[in-house]
Amino acid sequence: MGETSLDDDFCQDRHSVYDRLRADAPVCPAVLPNGQRVWLATRYEDARALLAHPALSKDSNRATPLYERLAETEGVRRTYIAKVLRDHMLNLDPPDHTRLRRLVGAAFTLRRVELLRPRVEEIVGDLLDGLSGQVDLLEQYAIPVSGTVAGELFGVPVDERAEFRGLSQRIGQGADAEEVGRGFLAMADYLAALVARKREQPGDDLVTALVQARDEGDQLDEDELVSMVFLLLTAGFETTVHLVGNGVVALLSHPEQLALLRGDPSLLPRAVEELLRFDGPAGTATLRFTTEPVEVGGTTIPAEQFVLVPVGAANRDEARFPDPHALDITRDAIGHVGFGHGVHHCLGAPLARLTGQTAIGRLVERFPDLALVEPEKLRWRNNSLFRAYEQIFVTV
Ligand code: HEM
Repeated sequence: MGETSLDDDFCQDRHSVYDRLRADAPVCPAVLPNGQRVWLATRYEDARALLAHPALSKDSNRATPLYERLAETEGVRRTYIAKVLRDHMLNLDPPDHTRLRRLVGAAFTLRRVELLRPRVEEIVGDLLDGLSGQVDLLEQYAIPVSGTVAGELFGVPVDERAEFRGLSQRIGQGADAEEVGRGFLAMADYLAALVARKREQPGDDLVTALVQARDEGDQLDEDELVSMVFLLLTAGFETTVHLVGNGVVALLSHPEQLALLRGDPSLLPRAVEELLRFDGPAGTATLRFTTEPVEVGGTTIPAEQFVLVPVGAANRDEARFPDPHALDITRDAIGHVGFGHGVHHCLGAPLARLTGQTAIGRLVERFPDLALVEPEKLRWRNNSLFRAYEQIFVTV
């Protein structure tokens, strides 16, 4: 099989491409829409091995020649050039990664997430009160839920929330690389000012906790703080939006599963794990590169190659999840790699679960007649990073 093209057709029909690759060429070369060449692994076992492989690096500094070549590729975002936004822990290997993760772990605890629970319920409840008739599910519900939770978590003052959300959206939805690049720089300025303010006036929020985080005398410097907050925001905002969007579409497209959930709300945590397995938002956002030749699933990937692990492919591997294309909210989907695997496993998973469970659970509970409007018109976004619908309209 030749090179697979992750183009617009692929985006609309990912799972049949993944099925074919898993059977015929489970570890194979592919080309991204921006022309970048990568290796793709579509089986569950191979995905886990690669995500945790010590010879696979995420350190953009170690891969400078690779990234320079990448930066020459048309359409590549300017983030890679804006160093302060690039050198966060998701782009670093141990031991630098270990140090930063430990520091943020001390600030972003389960306790902090649990403290947010009543606020998440309130935020969701207020938004549900405002819905009637035909609703743009992403714009009117999922985006404000995720944006408001992020605003609360970071301690963004209420009167700045709209600006803050606008900055996130500019990055997520900029029309071209220039606009996205300008969005990133504006966000960096905003975050630097926010960090400075929290240093002056501490609050009960994550940015303050990060400013104060110390580990054996170690602490985050100014650039590390900005890039950490930036990572938390970019990793957490849009993913959560599309956990809600994809999850609601999957449930509404499987009425028998939705009825099961409504009949037994205690299934909610299990259902959300299954929704993450079935169509989680992470898509293909797991780029790494080989520092030496790496053997996986009987194929050797040469050194200095980019490797992409589409977690959505691993999560539909029949060898791990029987009847993988069936949505079954009673199955034990724990073990899915929707939050990644290994040292970079999603740090925000507890918050994503809390927000996802509350937003999806309360929506289907509140509106028994919830239905998709013209489901045949649903289209996946032609964007290889996230697995996301362009738009979702429902009636409540
Ligand atoms: C890492 C998925 C929500 C913060 C990751 C990775 C995945 C992922 C797949 C690993 C990437 C890799 O190995 O290359 C998701 C999904 C989410 C979600 C599907 C929602 C449904 C969040 C939230 C936050 C967050 C809400 C924080 C507020 C992070 C951070 C990392 C990460 C900081 C990097 C961890 C490290 O490098 O050690 N996420 N994420 N994520 N995620 Fe999430």
